[in-house]
Amino acid sequence: MSHSVITVKGLKKSFKDKVALNNISFDVKMGEILGIVGHNGAGKSTLINTMVDIYKPDEGDVEYLFDRKSMYDHIGVQMQKNYFEGNAKVIDICNLYKKLTKSDIDLDEMLDGFGLSKEKDTYIKKLSGGNVQRLSILLTLINQPEVVFLDELTTGLDPVARRKIWEVLREINRKNNVTIIITSHFLDEIEYLADRIMILNKGEMVYLGGVTTAIDQYSQGEKVIEFQIKDPMASFKLDKYGAIPLNDDRYQIYTKDDEKVLMELITKVGIKNLVVKSPTLEDVFLKIAGYKLDKEGRIINE
Ligand SMILES: Nc1ncnc2c1ncn2[C@@H]1O[C@H](COP(=O)(O)OP(=O)(O)OP(=O)(O)O)[C@@H](O)[C@H]1O
Ligand SMILES: [Mg+2]
Repeated sequence: MSHSVITVKGLKKSFKDKVALNNISFDVKMGEILGIVGHNGAGKSTLINTMVDIYKPDEGDVEYLFDRKSMYDHIGVQMQKNYFEGNAKVIDICNLYKKLTKSDIDLDEMLDGFGLSKEKDTYIKKLSGGNVQRLSILLTLINQPEVVFLDELTTGLDPVARRKIWEVLREINRKNNVTIIITSHFLDEIEYLADRIMILNKGEMVYLGGVTTAIDQYSQGEKVIEFQIKDPMASFKLDKYGAIPLNDDRYQIYTKDDEKVLMELITKVGIKNLVVKSPTLEDVFLKIAGYKLDKEGRIINE
């Protein structure tokens, strides 16, 4: 295992009497992609902001492998909220960042990689939301950081644009061994990108480890049965199976005894649109904290 580039010890952060982070300790390994997931208000942004010195923790500390004074030469931070001067052109702000960070990066190549070549001379106020998001990730990478923090990686992007960003990040991770810390509401994104995931729940770290390990640990050989019931009035019959309601009158049941349960569902409950599958990270999530997801796969409840 490679050595740690960041060590977080006993972090605690409250806002008035609201505990946003409680006793969080972990290491970030050099060259890994760490994905942080959790419901709205779980503490993801607070954790990132504390790690990069924007917030001071109430307790605990964050140690970096490199000198703290030159920290911002080594890290890149994309915050959840970004404000850019709307009256500047894309290329102007890129050049400004390049100059400020004394970077020798090839801007044309970078703009191309982010699908922004055509927008080079577009005023920022005229950019689509997705392109602003791409630009903000690009700017985070201009100083060729060793560690990158990306809060809400691809929020606002369409599926094709998301995939593009994933590939760019994978490439800088593999080619340049850049350590990447991302937060996301999209579990498919984390499943695809992250070497390890951290699950935050109400400011507590409830899981840290490999994605497949999380799935194995929590699913324990169970299968997921997903279905709709023909008669919504029959939903009480699902109680004994511990069915989890999803959107659109769909339900999920976890069971090691999938054949028996299926037979009962078909004969005694009446179901349609049936799917039987091995659990994904999303399913494990639903199970750990009873989360629900919206149609796009975002976590919507606590
Ligand atoms: N600057 C602040 N002042 C007061 N409360 C804050 C502040 N920042 C965060 N909080 C509170 O701390 C808790 C954690 O918030 P945080 O923004 O870290 O969550 P999050 O996981 O990033 O959520 P989201 O998914 O919505 O981005 C929330 O209850 C939030 O209201
Ligand atoms: Mg946040």
